[in-house]
Parts: sequence; structure tokens; C-alpha cells
Amino acid sequence: MEARSSRYHEVYARWQRDPIGFWGEAAADIAWFEQPKAVFDPKAGVYGRWFVGGVCNTCFNAVDRHVDAGRGEQAAIIYDSPLAGQKRAITYHRLLTETQVLAGMLRDLGVQQGDRVILYMPMVPEAVIGMLACARIGAVHSVVFGGFAARELATRIDDAKPKLILSASCGLEPGRIVAYKPLLDEAIALARHKPAACLVLQRPQRAATLVEGRDHDWGKMRDHALVHARSAYDCVPLAATDPLYILYTSGTTGRPKGVVRDNGGHMVALQWSMKYLYGVEPGEVYWAASDVGWVVGHSYIVYAPLLHGCTTILYEGKPVGTPDAGAFWRVIAEHSCAAMFTAPTAFRAVKKEDPNGKLLAQYDLQKFRTLFLAGERADPDTVAWAENLLKVPVLDHWWQTETGWCIAGNPVGLGTLPVKYGSATVPMPGYDVRVVDEACNEVAPGKMGSIVVKLPLPPGCLPTLWQADERCRESYLAEFPGYYKTADAGFKDADGYVSVMGRTDDIINVAGHRLSTGGMEEVLAAHPDVAECAVLGIKDELKGEVPCGFIVLKSGVNRPSAEIEKECVALIRDKIGPVASFRLAIAVARLPKTRSGKILRGTIKKIADAEPWTMPATIDDPAILEEIGTALKGKLVKT
Ligand code: COA
Ligand code: AMP
Repeated sequence: MEARSSRYHEVYARWQRDPIGFWGEAAADIAWFEQPKAVFDPKAGVYGRWFVGGVCNTCFNAVDRHVDAGRGEQAAIIYDSPLAGQKRAITYHRLLTETQVLAGMLRDLGVQQGDRVILYMPMVPEAVIGMLACARIGAVHSVVFGGFAARELATRIDDAKPKLILSASCGLEPGRIVAYKPLLDEAIALARHKPAACLVLQRPQRAATLVEGRDHDWGKMRDHALVHARSAYDCVPLAATDPLYILYTSGTTGRPKGVVRDNGGHMVALQWSMKYLYGVEPGEVYWAASDVGWVVGHSYIVYAPLLHGCTTILYEGKPVGTPDAGAFWRVIAEHSCAAMFTAPTAFRAVKKEDPNGKLLAQYDLQKFRTLFLAGERADPDTVAWAENLLKVPVLDHWWQTETGWCIAGNPVGLGTLPVKYGSATVPMPGYDVRVVDEACNEVAPGKMGSIVVKLPLPPGCLPTLWQADERCRESYLAEFPGYYKTADAGFKDADGYVSVMGRTDDIINVAGHRLSTGGMEEVLAAHPDVAECAVLGIKDELKGEVPCGFIVLKSGVNRPSAEIEKECVALIRDKIGPVASFRLAIAVARLPKTRSGKILRGTIKKIADAEPWTMPATIDDPAILEEIGTALKGKLVKT
């Protein structure tokens, strides 16, 4: 469909004219126990709150109402795990029963409305059921990605203070079983807050030892509860503004930010996005190849497809190696998938293994209409490659953990706009996106600047950070008064297309995973032989960026530096987790700094990326940059 027939401009203008009317109408697609008293209250919360006075339940909207409406026999979840060698469909009816039963188990374990429940889980249906069961009883879930180490989990336990932790004995990665339970035990030992109980799913690949008095066997308890299931585990009426979940994301230090999501606004925004952005209908199959531990997993593996009455695919595998680079095509074909959403890095992995897309010939992708990419900038090469191969629109879209859904994208349901390579396309209704300079003045079309969103943020975006309103104001609202700071830099062109070029802070994006270099520096600085360090993201063909750490050793240290470099690599894996993909620590004699002592990260990055660079006028000692160049030679390996 061409721009001429797109309703985008008309719909966006309608939102601009009357945002309250727009979101009020969108809210009609949600089943409310009590209608909101106000669509938006500008006086409530940090910058206002959506659907104040509304009473609702997210689990009811995602599960119960579809069963009531006759979708009981439709698959709600298709679990497809090449790693476990399993495929199975869970109908809406079954999902309802399982969610009711688990909700009852949570209650029996003492979980009340408002209590927090942490999930540290692999990609298994129980993770989805766990999230929904929390939503059902008004407990606030917080999913921690399985690739994080015990220390990261402990930090989140101390911040969220969960009554209960849902976990599994192990996760499955190609060629290895990741024993989750020892990591969970270590995290609980490290944390000051101790959960009252843990519910542990014993997977057949590796069983875990349970701690008496604290740990419960999920399967056994479920089997018992199933027999005694009572209707008392109905959905609890919640305020639209009550928290549904907390999702921790990297901040600029090692202390993650607990992004809060509410119930009402979240449902309204996600449901709108399924129809108008992704262009899918209830009953169709939708696949987000991500992980439930990330925001993409929360919004588009779990909540949005289920709210919309779609079938969602839960894929426990990789784009390549499980078993080959045809895995995506197999899943799309086998489950008649209409739309897929993943990170460009996954497609780069496929392109690298099967550059001519030979494996595609084995599969029939008739039902497949659109590929959506997000999580990092979609590089034009990858977009063009996927378009040529799949012969469907390949659409980049931009968003963040904080926003919970798309800021700028190409709205298929309103009529797809022409694609411009390198751009995420146009702001969605709800987002007044501006590009500004340091003084918060809008810059001319085509000029780079900080991307900000005029307040209020639309429904679905974070109302605040968990028990940290002030941190929320400081992090996002203080620098550009009246605007939300995305911490992304980019530009808008004359047609209003938004291009996002990179972060303005020290967050890096590794294989679509968001990581803090500041957090990694904190870990390296704790090594007894390290005097000083700098971690920055350097270009990587597959993962987009990978972290690289420069370390300066304390004087008097006379062990071989290669040994210490290895220890630093192991330290990050141990303290942050394998997901950091930290493989490069380089000992240097000194770090290049300005005369005022600021490390010249930008220049180091350019040297590492083999980009042209100029000697900064403020540099303390120009010779150091040459030393950095020499240290890097031969160290840069391709993934
Ligand atoms: N539990 C435990 N370990 C995990 C994990 C999990 N849930 N997820 C990843 N890891 C481990 C990996 O096994 C790997 O370990 P290794 O260092 O021993 O090899 C490490 O963390 C790095 O993982 P990752 O960056 O994902 O690299 P990869 O080589 O395993 O896979 C891609 C690379 C590109 C195929 C993969 O990252 C991918 O598909 N990414 C795109 C989809 C996505 O999840 N995007 C997120 C937001 S949309
Ligand atoms: P996360 O919170 O993990 O979703 O990461 C959000 C960050 O990823 C954004 O602030 C951007 O820096 C980056 N990002 C996500 N999607 C895109 C995109 N389509 N284009 C460019 N950058 C993106």
C-alpha cells in the first residue's frame, strides 16, 4: 500500500486535535469492570496518569474475555522449542485453567495484591502463565532475563523485595544447559531481602535441589492444585493505575532502573498497536522472536497478542544453529505466522550463515505479510537483504523499555507508508517527537539533535520508576523541561520521518540487548589490580556493538597483563552475565583524557571502529591515543 492510501496522517492529526477523545475511543476495546472517571489526569503522578478511576484486570482482558467470547479452542500460545525438542499448543481455555490454578498457588504461598513476584525463567509456557497469574491477583511481576548473573538478580531482588520468586531448574542454550537454580540460590544469598518462598519448575534436562522450607516443586504443587481448583481465583479488580509489572533496565550506573507499567494505559496502547501498527487481526498468529525477559517479550510475546486474541509463538531457540539458519522460516511456515518481530542482529546472523537464503526454498511462507525490526538501528543492508529474500515489507520501528510500545514506526494497519532505509518512519499517535539542541530549541529538518517527546507520554509508557519518582524526574524529565528525554540522538527529515542514530549516554546495544558500560566499569574497577578503566561499545558485524574494556593496572602490579585481562573478562561474565558478551579487556599504560580529566571515549571509539578522527584540542597528552591504537592492533576479533 502506498502513502496515498494510508490513513496515518489523518489519524495522527485526529490525535493531535483531541488526544483525550482519541484515547477515550481506543479504551472502548478494553473490557473495564468500571469505566475510567477521566481519560487523563494531568495532576496525578509524575507527569499525569491515564484512565484514572478505571477498574480492570489485564489477565481478564488477555485470557478470560476471549474464552467468554468463544475463542476457548483457539491456540493462545504455541511453544516451539528446538532446544528442548518440543512443540505444543496451549488453547485459550487451557491457558485460563493454568492461570487460575497458578493464581491459586500464589495465593496459597501468601502472595497478596500489590506484592512483588520475581520471575527468573527460561522461554517456557510457565513463564507466560506466571506473568498472567500475577496479573490475575494483582501481584506485581518483575521478570529478570536468564542471561543475567546472580549479582544482577540480587540487585533486583533488593529493589523489588519480592514475596516469591518463580524460577526453573535450568535454561537451554545451544550446546549447554544453564543451571538457573544455583544462580538463584547465590542471588538470594547475596541479597539483603529474602523472599518467603520460591516455586521451582523442574525441567527434565536438569533437576535442581530444592531448599527445604523455602522452595516448592512447581509441577507437584500444580498437579495437586489442579484437582482442587476453585473459582475463587477469579480476576481481582484493580485500579487502571495500579502497577502490572516492574521491568529493570540498564541505567547509566550499575543500579538498574525499575520501569513501572500500569494496567489500564498499557492495555489500551498495546491493543491499539496490534491493529493499527502491526496490522494483525484477532485469530492470526503473531511471533516476536525475543525473550520474555526483555520489554519486547513483555509487550509482544505476552500481553499484546493475547489482549488482541491472537496466537503468540513462544520460541526457545536461536535464529541460527537450532538447527540451522532456516529456523525462522520453519517457524513462520509451520505455524502460519502473519507477522514477525525481531532484532536486526538476528537477521544478520541468518544472513551470515545463509547469505543467499537457500534454506527458504524449503518452506511455504504464504500467510506471512510483514517483518518488523526493532531493538537497535536497522542497518539498510540487512533491511534490503530481508526484503529481497522475503518479498514482504520489512519495517523498522523504534522504542524503549520505558515506552513499552513503539514511538516511531510504519503503521501497517493504517496503510503502510513508503520505507526510507535507515529511518524508523513516523511518530505514532500519542508521541509528539521533537529533535532539539542543548538549549531545547528545535533543530531544522535533517539536523542531528537529542530526540525528546513532548509531555504527556501516551498510555502504555512508564508512569514512574519503582518507588523512585524523583529518579524518574531526574533521569527523564529534568534536562528538557516539558519533554521526556529519550537519550537517543537522531534527526527528522522534511517528511517527518525519524532516524535514530545512537544513544547520548553510556548505554550500548549488544545483539539487541541494552547494557550499561558504566555498570561494567564498576565491575572492572573492583578488580584488585585495576587502577582505572573505560568500557565502550565498539562496532561488531553481527551484534551491532560489543563492549571493549581498557584497563590501567595499579603501579607495582607485575603479573602478566594477559592474565589480568582474562580475569576481567571472567569477572564481567560472573558479575553481569554472559549476555554482556564481554570478551575484550585490553591493558594500556594510561587512558587518553582531556586536561580536565575526562576520558576521551568518543575518540577511543573512533580509533577502535577504524573511523576517521581528529586530535581533540583539549587532550592532555596526544601520544596516548597512539598507544591506544597500538594496543588495539590484533585484538579486535570478529564474532
Ligand atoms: N539464559 C542464559 N544465557 C543466555 C541467555 C539466557 N536466556 N540468552 C543468551 N545467553 C548467553 C548466550 O548463550 C551467550 O553465551 P556464550 O557467551 O557462552 O556464547 C551469551 O549469553 C550472549 O548471548 P547473545 O548476545 O544472545 O549471543 P548469541 O551468540 O547466543 O546469539 C544472536 C546471537 C544474534 C543470534 C541472538 O542474540 C539473537 O537472536 N538476538 C536477537 C533477538 C533478541 O533477543 N533481541 C532482544 C530484543 S528484540
Ligand atoms: P531497550 O530499552 O532495550 O528496548 O533499548 C532501547 C534502545 O534501543 C533505544 O533507546 C535505542 O537506543 C535502541 N533502539 C531500539 N529500537 C531502535 C531502532 N529501531 N532504531 C534505532 N535504535 C533503536
